[in-house]
Amino acid sequence: MAIKTIFEPFRIKTVEPLRITTRQERDSILKKAGYNLFSVRAEDVLIDLLTDSGTAAMSARQWAGLIDGDESYAGARSFYRFENTVKDLTGFKHIIPTHQGRAAEKILFNIMGGQGKVIPNNTHFDTTRANIEVSGAEAVDLPVKEALIPSLVKDFKGNMDITALERLLKEKGREHIPLVMMTVTNNSCAGQPASMGCIRRVSELCRSYKIPFFIDACRFAENAWFVKTREPGCKGRSVKQLAQEMFSYADGCTMSGKKDGLVNIGGFLAMNDDELAQKARNILIVTEGFPTYGGLAGRDLEAFAQGLEEVVDEDYLKYRIRSTEYVVEKLDALGVPVFKPAGGHAVYLDAKAFLPHVPPQHYPGHAIACALYLEGGIRSCEIGSVMFGKTDPATGEFQPAMLEMVRLAIPRRVYTQSHMDYVVECLAEVFAQRDKIRGMRIVWEPPILRHFTARFEPL
Ligand code: F0G
Repeated sequence: MAIKTIFEPFRIKTVEPLRITTRQERDSILKKAGYNLFSVRAEDVLIDLLTDSGTAAMSARQWAGLIDGDESYAGARSFYRFENTVKDLTGFKHIIPTHQGRAAEKILFNIMGGQGKVIPNNTHFDTTRANIEVSGAEAVDLPVKEALIPSLVKDFKGNMDITALERLLKEKGREHIPLVMMTVTNNSCAGQPASMGCIRRVSELCRSYKIPFFIDACRFAENAWFVKTREPGCKGRSVKQLAQEMFSYADGCTMSGKKDGLVNIGGFLAMNDDELAQKARNILIVTEGFPTYGGLAGRDLEAFAQGLEEVVDEDYLKYRIRSTEYVVEKLDALGVPVFKPAGGHAVYLDAKAFLPHVPPQHYPGHAIACALYLEGGIRSCEIGSVMFGKTDPATGEFQPAMLEMVRLAIPRRVYTQSHMDYVVECLAEVFAQRDKIRGMRIVWEPPILRHFTARFEPL
C-alpha cells in the first residue's frame, strides 16, 4: 500500500494549553485594542499566525543544549560548536553571532552603507530596508514581474530580475553599489523561493563587477527544499549539499536564527573578507558583545547550533512545506483567493480579490485580519496599505501599497494538522460572509511604522 499521509515527524513531549475565548469576548478585546492585532495580548489569541519568527518549538536536544551551554565570557565551548556548525553549512571564514537578524544587518550596513550608495535585493525585508535607509543608502527591490501576480503558478517567483540588476550595475557601477543581496525565501513576495540558477547568475554578475554578494539566509533550508524538489538536476542531492552550494556563490550572509535556526532568539553575520570582519567585530563589541557570544548566552548558541543541524532534516522539511501547501490547497478549493503556489513559511491571502468592494484606502487586508480574529481567535497580519500605504502630506492623496495581502505565518513545529483545519474552516466562514465586511478607518497613527500601534475603527 502506498501511504500518502505526510504527518508531523515528531511527537509531543511538553504541551501548552490554549485559551478558548467566546466571540463576545473577542469583540470587546478587539475594540479595546483599537482593532490592532499587535495590541491584543497573546493569551487572548487561540492560533497565533502573526509570525514564524522566534515562535518555533525547540526539540528535546535543543532544550538539553540549554543546560549544556557554556556561559564563559570569552572562548566558550558553545561558541566553537556554533562556529563549526555554521562554517560547515556556509563555508564562510568569519562567523559573528548577533542577538537577531536585524543586528547583523545593522552592523553590515553601518560598514557598507552610507550616503550615495544603492543596495539592490530581490526584495528587502522591512528591517533590512530600514537599516539601509538609516545608514543614508538607498534600498532597491528588483523582484521578477511574476512575483506581483498572486494567482500565477510558477516555480521560482522569489527570483531577482537579473536584467534589471544588470542595468543597475551598469548604470551605477561598483563606486555606488557596495553589495548586492538576495533574500531566500523572498518573505516580502509571499515567501516564494529563489532558484539556484538565479542565485548563481546573480553571483557571476556580481563577480564580474567585483561587487560583494550577500544572502539574507533566514529561511535557507526551506528555500533549499524548493530547489531540491523543483529545480532540474537537484533531486538527487541533499538539502544540506544544496544549501552549501548556495552559500558558495556568496561572499557572506546575514541570518535570523528565529526562522530556520529553530530558536526563539539569535542571529549571525558571516563573511570571507578579513578586513570587513575586523570592522564588524569592532562594532559588535560596542553594541552586541564579545565576538564569541555577540549578544547571546552560551545556551542560546548551543540551541542555535542544534537547530541548524535539525532544520536540514528532509523529513522535517517535507512535512513543513507540505503543511503550508495543504492550507493553500484547501483554501484554493474553497475559492478563497490565495497567493500561488504555496510559499514556505506562510499562507498569503490576496485581499483585493477577497474583498473587491473594499478599496485600498479602506484597508481590505486589515479588515480580513480583524474578521478572522473575531471569527476564530486567529491572529494574522496585514501586509498591504496599513503597512506600506502613504498619504502625501502636501496633496492629501493616498498612495496604496503594491499588494494588499494578509499573511498567516506558520510557526515551526508548533501547530498540528487539526489546528490548520480549524484555520481553514474559520477562513471559509469569513469568506462566506465577505459581503458584510466593510473596510477600516485609521483614527490615530504614529509618524513611522504605523502598523504596530495605529488605532482603527470599522467603517
Ligand atoms: N530578513 C528577513 C527576510 C526576515 O523575514 C526578517 C524577520 C529579518 C531579516 C529580521 O530578522 O527579526 O531576527 O531581526 N522577519 C520576521 C517576520 C520579523 O515576521 O517576517 P530578526
